[in-house]
Amino acid sequence: MKKFIENLPKAELHLHIEGSFEPAQMFEIAKRNAIDIPFNSVAEVEEAYKFDCLQDFLDIYYQGAGVLISENDFYDLTYAYLQKCAAQNVRHAEIMFDPQTHTDRGISFETVIKGISSACADAKTKLNISSFLIMSYLRHLPEESAFKTLKQSLPYKHLIHAVGLDSSEKGNPPSKFKNVFEASVKAGYIPLAHAGEEGDASYVWEALDVLKIKRIDHGNNALQDSKLIAEIIKRDIALTVCPLSNTALQVVKDIKDHPLKKMIDLGLKVTINSDDPAYFGGQVNANYSAVQEALNLSKSDLYELAKNSFNYSLLPKPKREFYLAELELYYLQATKKI
Ligand code: ADE
Ligand code: ZN
Repeated sequence: MKKFIENLPKAELHLHIEGSFEPAQMFEIAKRNAIDIPFNSVAEVEEAYKFDCLQDFLDIYYQGAGVLISENDFYDLTYAYLQKCAAQNVRHAEIMFDPQTHTDRGISFETVIKGISSACADAKTKLNISSFLIMSYLRHLPEESAFKTLKQSLPYKHLIHAVGLDSSEKGNPPSKFKNVFEASVKAGYIPLAHAGEEGDASYVWEALDVLKIKRIDHGNNALQDSKLIAEIIKRDIALTVCPLSNTALQVVKDIKDHPLKKMIDLGLKVTINSDDPAYFGGQVNANYSAVQEALNLSKSDLYELAKNSFNYSLLPKPKREFYLAELELYYLQATKKI
């Protein structure tokens, strides 16, 4: 099964680039920027990565991102992630970045977007991986700050596909960002949002009805409300589920209790993703393997999950079909159906 997962063509749709920052690379970049970090070794960093909840993690995640200063830093961070994609047969990645985490510390929007997008362009030619960028607004900040970010993004609109909403969910419902999402859609961005990770089902309703999102990041707590489940299915909206994130942040107590199989059985369209792989103990393939083992998923289940990852990507139809054909051929050969 491990080999089957390793070679399975797939897309990753929920990945925070700042959350892909491996401790070893953090030390390297902190050193070249002469920035002190409160750890002496990679082992010490890993020891600190034990979280009780989302906020626990976010506090350390924003601290880690603080060592990124130059365009080159953002380039190296992004290219390292895309190299991991290549090694895992991730054919397409939709990458979130949090501009406010950087602009609030005096780093220009231009530095961030140029570094990230040039790594994506190089990965396309050198690694044959396609990628789209999702500009995520930090929901713990006021809506005016998101508006400022939207304005800063406009000269680089051609490099960004979608807007997202992340950070501390509880107490920061989607409706807080109604106006900036409307303006973002007018500017040409596709609306996406984290919802129902720690927040209850009402947050998912708001994300659908107020922000008019096209994909739900996490969405676990949608399971609290059967009407909501029916509505998500009716609108054909997918959930980007992140199993190892869910256990690391205590959204799910044990991987064996993960609701992924229940979601599939209910008819929800689910994809598997890593969220913040450097912090949660595994890249996307480790997430596939964790749920495969814990929930006893078959090759056909894994094939459906990978199919969803292309079908619910933001790729144009011809490109989606290209990857789906590659995936189908792989599946048929791997299961000796041809
Ligand atoms: N930012 C990075 N990872 C996140 C997550 N899992 N939830 C909300 N905001 C995040
Ligand atoms: Zn996330």
